[in-house]
Amino acid sequence: MSAAPARVAVLISGRGSNMQSLVARQGDAYRIVLVASDKPEAAGLAWARDQGLTTFALSPRGIGKPAYEAAIDAALRDAGAEWIALAGYMRLLSDEFVAQWRGRIVNIHPSLLPRYKGLDTHARAIAAGDASAGCSVHLVTEELDGGEVLGQAEVPILPDDTADTLAARVLAEEHRLYPAVLAEVVRR
Ligand code: GAR
Repeated sequence: MSAAPARVAVLISGRGSNMQSLVARQGDAYRIVLVASDKPEAAGLAWARDQGLTTFALSPRGIGKPAYEAAIDAALRDAGAEWIALAGYMRLLSDEFVAQWRGRIVNIHPSLLPRYKGLDTHARAIAAGDASAGCSVHLVTEELDGGEVLGQAEVPILPDDTADTLAARVLAEEHRLYPAVLAEVVRR
């Protein structure tokens, strides 16, 4: 008998296209049980609501990080989440939060880690004259974009590429990579 699908919560801050690809590919390996955001106005949250998914939104503004993270943690536990998938979640999680979910938080990052941790990854890859760029799915640890890399996809950097054209090509790879890697990691 195969195990029940892993219960996954997705944290987003914006458009949520990676979250949508995770939802589209849910199945025997994992189910999306919650979509949560630090931005109540996030476009991805409206999409998730329209799909009938359970959503949770709270801005940390005015309440502080500990209270904000405690509320997120409570929403995750209420939803019975076993894993957290960060998908364009643009806020640093505290060490305490990461410790509580250690080994159970994954993230997608738009570079070939360990290159280009942090922001502006595509512009930095082009400026460096790199021949290729890509995306990585990794475990989240206390070190920014520093946890074990679980999977990567690579795309060539073309002579005419701008940060935007490169981002669009990498994003298409993100949408393929993230569901596949998530389906694998929840089984280990
Ligand atoms: C994606 O490209 C993701 O890799 C990136 O933000 C975008 C979110 O798009 N994440 C980071 O830069 C994390 N540091 P989406 O909201 O459409 O999934």
